[in-house]
Parts: sequence; C-alpha cells; structure tokens
Amino acid sequence: MEKLEVLITEEQLRSGVAELAERINRDYNGEELLVVGILRGAFVFLADLVRRLTMPVVIDFVAVSSYGDDTQSSGVVRILKDLDESIAGRHVLLVEDIIDTGLTLKYLYENLKARHPASLKVCTLLDKPSRRRVDFNPDYAGFTIPDYFVVGYGLDCGQRYRNLPMVCVIRQEQEGCPPFAGGEQPR
Ligand code: PRP
Ligand code: MN
Ligand code: MG
Repeated sequence: MEKLEVLITEEQLRSGVAELAERINRDYNGEELLVVGILRGAFVFLADLVRRLTMPVVIDFVAVSSYGDDTQSSGVVRILKDLDESIAGRHVLLVEDIIDTGLTLKYLYENLKARHPASLKVCTLLDKPSRRRVDFNPDYAGFTIPDYFVVGYGLDCGQRYRNLPMVCVIRQEQEGCPPFAGGEQPR
C-alpha cells in the first residue's frame, strides 16, 4: 500500500518491547503488578508486554473517551469502563499505546492516584512530546516519534488498521484515512 509507510518494523517493536519489559522486571523485583491497559489502543502492546513480565501479574482495563469539540479536546476525560479491580495498596502500571497531548493520561493518572495505590507508573509504547498540551512524562517509553499520524500495532485511523503488525505513518497531506484492502500490508 503506497499510502502507508512503515515507521517501526515488527522486529524493532519486538526488541523495543523486550527492553521495556526488562526494565520493568528489574524495577519491580518480583513484586506483584497490576497492569492496566487503556482501551482500545493499548491492547496489542499490552498483550506483548505482559508475556515478557516475570513477576506475578494481574491484568485489568479501563476505557476512556475525551469529549468537547473534535479539534480541541477540553481535557475532560470520561471513564466509559472503569477498573474491575480495587487498586488501593497495589503496584499499578498504566499501559498506553501513545502519549500525544497528554490529556488522557494526565486525567487517568490523577484519577487512579486518588485511589491510593502503593505505586503508580506509566508505560507507553510511543511518545510524541512535541504535541504535549499538559506536562506529563511517562516512566517508561518505547519509542519517541515526531508529529506523524501513526497507525498499527493497536493504533487506529477511524477504528481501522489496529491489526497491522508494525507501526505505519499516514502522510499528513492526505485527507482522512486511506483505503485499506483486507489482507494487504504496507511495505
Ligand atoms: C488515543 C491513544 C491514546 C490517546 C493519546 O486514544 O490511544 O489513548 O489517544 O492522546 P492524548 O495524549 O492526546 O490524550 P483514542 O482516544 O483515539 O482511543 P483509542 O485508544 O480507542 O483509539
Ligand atoms: Mn487510546
Ligand atoms: Mg484512536
């Protein structure tokens, strides 16, 4: 597909995720970890990451949505699906696919912090610091990327492309999402 360009290959993702998992394994030193994925984007990264964690792991998910007008998020985030687990006194790792403006994570971080976890850290696969609107820095970040619109490995454009095994760029000059014939993969 000529409209998508590979930014991070499957191999680069594999080794990036392995490095993150190694750091996390070292930092938590065998302590039980509650891994919280932010739906929907984080599901692929979370699935790969948790299979490399060596401590006892419990997995939960939250689903959130920003609201306000389309172009300018108000910074108000609504929880569509809350955690099933109680996090008080537990070590919690929030897992995200990408941090862009930082609004989603800033809100979730504050919200979860108020529930008194033993610790709360954030792991993101991708970080786009040039787009930040609020001050927020992840504890773990796999790849820092420029201000590209990226899809694949959980990230979507109009809910499509999440199943691509690599991270691809959709070029800015294009309007909306390019057509995608099922089964085809960008080169
Ligand atoms: C995307 C992405 C992050 C968030 C980052 O989620 O997965 O969760 O936006 O943006 P921010 O730093 O500007 O808040 P989206 O709202 O598209 O939902 P999705 O995960 O279901 O695709
Ligand atoms: Mn998301
Ligand atoms: Mg999205």
